[in-house]
Amino acid sequence: MDAQTIKRWMESVAFERGRTAVPSGFPALPDIPGGRYWEPEFFALEREALFKRGWVYVGHTDQLPEPGSFIVWRRTGTPILVIRGTDGQIRAFYNTCRHRGAPVVQQEAGKTSRYFSCGYHGWTYDTTGSLTAVTDPRDWAHLDQSCRSLVPVRCDLLGNWIYVCEDPDAPSLDHFLEPIARYFRHLPLHDLRLVHRRSVEVRGNYKVVLENFLEAYHFRLLHRHTTDRIFDNLGTSVHLWDHGHSMMLSPNRRPDWVDPGTIGMPEMATATTIERDHNPSYLVFPNMIVPIAPTGIPAVAFWPQGVDRTILDVIWFAPDWGGGERHPLWETRIANFDRIVDEDIAFVEPIQESITSPGFRGVPLNYQERRIYHWHAELDRRIGMERVPEHLRVPPVLDDWVERD
Ligand code: FES
Ligand SMILES: [Fe+2]
Repeated sequence: MDAQTIKRWMESVAFERGRTAVPSGFPALPDIPGGRYWEPEFFALEREALFKRGWVYVGHTDQLPEPGSFIVWRRTGTPILVIRGTDGQIRAFYNTCRHRGAPVVQQEAGKTSRYFSCGYHGWTYDTTGSLTAVTDPRDWAHLDQSCRSLVPVRCDLLGNWIYVCEDPDAPSLDHFLEPIARYFRHLPLHDLRLVHRRSVEVRGNYKVVLENFLEAYHFRLLHRHTTDRIFDNLGTSVHLWDHGHSMMLSPNRRPDWVDPGTIGMPEMATATTIERDHNPSYLVFPNMIVPIAPTGIPAVAFWPQGVDRTILDVIWFAPDWGGGERHPLWETRIANFDRIVDEDIAFVEPIQESITSPGFRGVPLNYQERRIYHWHAELDRRIGMERVPEHLRVPPVLDDWVERD
């Protein structure tokens, strides 16, 4: 990370700590319309715009250790087969046989040899998705096998993170990740290992859960025994970027504080004061929270499964520790973070129940909460403002507050 950026961000933390009012010129934010959290028509629009037409994280390369290793990705509704080919390359396909539509792979994860066969009639594909053999070829006089490969889904990598995109016309992953990937460039993204994964299902709209991770305003009450003791919400600086990405940088309350639960763990050698003395918590739009500490990253991703149902994945990445078992401190470290996440999600169901009440009209947001507004404005941009029902629109009033350099 360049010295200029570090300096700017540190100044911005100092500014936040010192201010006594909202900075001058900050616009009044219109309320976020309540229907965005429960109207099924809006849910369909946003699901398509974000999860069908955008790039989403589907896994880590450690989940595909060998040629033939595969996973089936289901979080976005359509089963997608992600497989490491015999040539080492990772590809994605719809997990749908080109004969009569059976799933070509039935396990959630596993390893195949050079070929895999559909369990229905035995059509066989290689790891690049090409159809290599059909059962009873004598009965397929007019079949052109070369036109019956598995239908590919776009697949690309950010370091060791695997992304897919179902829209053939969407811009590239590199473009999609601008400018946020720039702030990760000094980190060993190609050497991060997958430490742990935990999935939780919550009965609430995914935005209720996601938005909780976009602000530090709730630290004082929800995390009074955890996060709030460590990080200073009033010194937290917020950074909004193009493409919906954003970050909040919370300084440690005590400048000399080091997490006692991480002492002795391998660190990212290139971590700066930003990661050492603060909690930089990024949002990789649309749905992945990435808080970075030198010894590890507990990413949290939110997947809408219905208008009031969400799967939340907590995924731990850490700098490569060489061979052998992971560090013994990981058990407690994971448990400590789970406790914080549990504090966050305990509120989701009661909120979901409450926001479907006629008493819920909309959401006023303050200056500290402006990442939430920025997220919604980007969502409307992606749906196309004219397609968003008028009573649900979020006008882009924060554009002048987006940092572009
Ligand atoms: S559906 Fe796959 S071989 Fe028939
Ligand atoms: Fe929280």
